[in-house]
Amino acid sequence: MKLISKSLAETAAIAEQFVEALQASEQAVVVALDGDLGSGKTAFSQAIGEALGVRDPIQSPTFLIEKIYELHRQPWKHLVHIDAYRLEREGELLSLGWKEIISKPENLILVEWAEKVRNILPESAIHIVFNHVDETTREIEISAA
Ligand SMILES: Nc1ncnc2c1ncn2[C@@H]1O[C@H](COP(=O)(O)OP(=O)(O)O)[C@@H](O)[C@H]1O
Ligand SMILES: [Mg+2]
Repeated sequence: MKLISKSLAETAAIAEQFVEALQASEQAVVVALDGDLGSGKTAFSQAIGEALGVRDPIQSPTFLIEKIYELHRQPWKHLVHIDAYRLEREGELLSLGWKEIISKPENLILVEWAEKVRNILPESAIHIVFNHVDETTREIEISAA
C-alpha cells in the first residue's frame, strides 16, 4: 500500500492508523523501517509512541541503538525502538539479545535502517519504506504483514 504524506501531521496520522490496525501475535511484532535520512522513520516512530501513550518523547536512538519504552493497557508491554544505522554487523544486534526480544509476544519492535539487519529480521516483519519526495512530501509504502 503506497501512501502520500504532505506534512508531519499526516505522517503522524498514518502511523496512528497503522498501529491501531496492528495485532499482537505469538511472537513480537517487528516493523522494519527503511528510507534515506530525513525521510520520516523517526517521525513515524514518534507518532506510534504517542498513539500508544508513551509519555517520554521517542527520540532518535541513533547513538543508543536500542531504547525500550513501557506501555500500559496495550496489546504489548514494551515498545522497542532500534536504530540500526550505526551497526556494522548483524552480530551487534544479536549480542543485544535480539533473538529473545523478537520471541516475546509482549514486544512491539520498530527498527530504523532495518535493511542493515535484514538477514536477522523475522519473516513476519512488516516492511515500511519511506521516500523523500520534496521538502514536505513523503511517500510511505507499507508491505502486507
Ligand atoms: N510529510 C512529512 N512526513 C514526515 N516528516 C516530514 C514531512 N515533511 C517534512 N518532514 C520533516 O522531515 C524530517 C524527518 O526526519 P526523521 O523522522 O528524523 O527522518 P529519519 O528518521 O528517516 O532520518 C523531520 O524534520 C520532519 O519535520
Ligand atoms: Mg531516524
